[in-house]
Amino acid sequence: MSTIVAASREALLTGSQSDALAGEIEVPGDKSMSHRALILGGLASGETRIGGLLEGDDVLHTADAVRALGAHVERLAPASWRVRGNAWQSPPSPIDCGNSGTGARLLMGASAGFPITVTFAGDRSLSRRPMERVLGPLRAMGAKTRGSTLPLSIEGGNLQGIRFVNEKASAQVKSAILLAGLNASGVVEVIEPARSRDHTENMLRAFGCDIECTGGLIRLGKHRTLTGTEVLIPGDPSSAAFPLVAALVVPGSRVTIRNVMVNPLRGGLFETLKEMGADLRFDHERLEGGEAVADLVVAASDLSGVEVPASRAPSMIDEYPILAVAAAFASGTTVMHGLAELRVKESNRLAAMVAGLRECGVEAREEGDSLIVEGVGGPPAGGAIVRAHQDHRIAMSFLVMGLAAKRIVSVDSGGMIATSFPGFVEKMRSLGARIG
Ligand code: S3P
Repeated sequence: MSTIVAASREALLTGSQSDALAGEIEVPGDKSMSHRALILGGLASGETRIGGLLEGDDVLHTADAVRALGAHVERLAPASWRVRGNAWQSPPSPIDCGNSGTGARLLMGASAGFPITVTFAGDRSLSRRPMERVLGPLRAMGAKTRGSTLPLSIEGGNLQGIRFVNEKASAQVKSAILLAGLNASGVVEVIEPARSRDHTENMLRAFGCDIECTGGLIRLGKHRTLTGTEVLIPGDPSSAAFPLVAALVVPGSRVTIRNVMVNPLRGGLFETLKEMGADLRFDHERLEGGEAVADLVVAASDLSGVEVPASRAPSMIDEYPILAVAAAFASGTTVMHGLAELRVKESNRLAAMVAGLRECGVEAREEGDSLIVEGVGGPPAGGAIVRAHQDHRIAMSFLVMGLAAKRIVSVDSGGMIATSFPGFVEKMRSLGARIG
């Protein structure tokens, strides 16, 4: 598989001015939940059935990893998987986490609970990303670690509890500690300065684990064994963000995106777009598999610039690239605060967005940890080949810009889109988007 991924990563894609987008689509399953469903299934006794699994490259690497660590992982049909858990064993070779920070950090936590040694590796982007944020707490619990960026090794087992106060809200750090804590003795507690996405907590509970959550304090209870269950994964709001903003900026559009997870801890983009004047509505709000789900109904809108507070960053951390594109079409200035973390994502997303926007004729700058976009109040010039820095979300953001910019916008590394949104081009085309 890795040769195919490597060969197509550099693919050049273009977005060009499109007629009104119309129709209904579904986006693939949520990425955060998909990683967690495989990992928890791999730790649980008995059988876990997963429906709606995202079959993107990131999650497929996690499926391979869980299998290599000793669980039985099987694809039954598209998006439908079965996992039978086991005590994890030392894998014969390094675990390849591909491009995925979530996969790597959660797997590090989960495997540290076992008396095994695991080496983690990844692609060029992942090998540059900071891992100490997870390794530090795991060492404090008793794991031995070698290396601070991938490739690195962890020797686990015999863990003790921890009371960990994190400086920043991070679901990955919280989850790594909780997963290690399943096989630790004593109190396991994480305190966050603001709430980060709570899918690990929700899913641990569904697998039968005792867990208490009060505001920013999360504590594992006494009963920490997991029992296989059924997990239904709704559409990924971070993927829905792309057709959503496309429908907002392409004049005359009206689009429905069905079955999207609308957990409030993931809802910062929806809130911000509504503040900007987006005609966006949640239809058929419901609870499915323990998560809030809705159909998003969106129509083209005149947007205005807004100030986005740093406190909103945890609930929309992956959505700033596409928000910056929406801001480019808006009238007035949009200021987004508290974005330091964007510098250590799949690429330096702050720098990548500023450079790409400028090449497309939009004034944008970084000021400290803030991103400032001067909205054009209509279609930006476009007409650039933007460097996506092997980052799926940067690539999709600029393709969306091209759908309504004056001139074509091209992106390199279009192949990376398959890490989170396989079928992106086809789904966008089905709405009338000119992406080629
Ligand atoms: C994720 C948490 C976020 C997010 C990432 C997915 C998760 O990272 O950016 O894409 O599934 O836990 P941080 O924990 O670094 O905020």
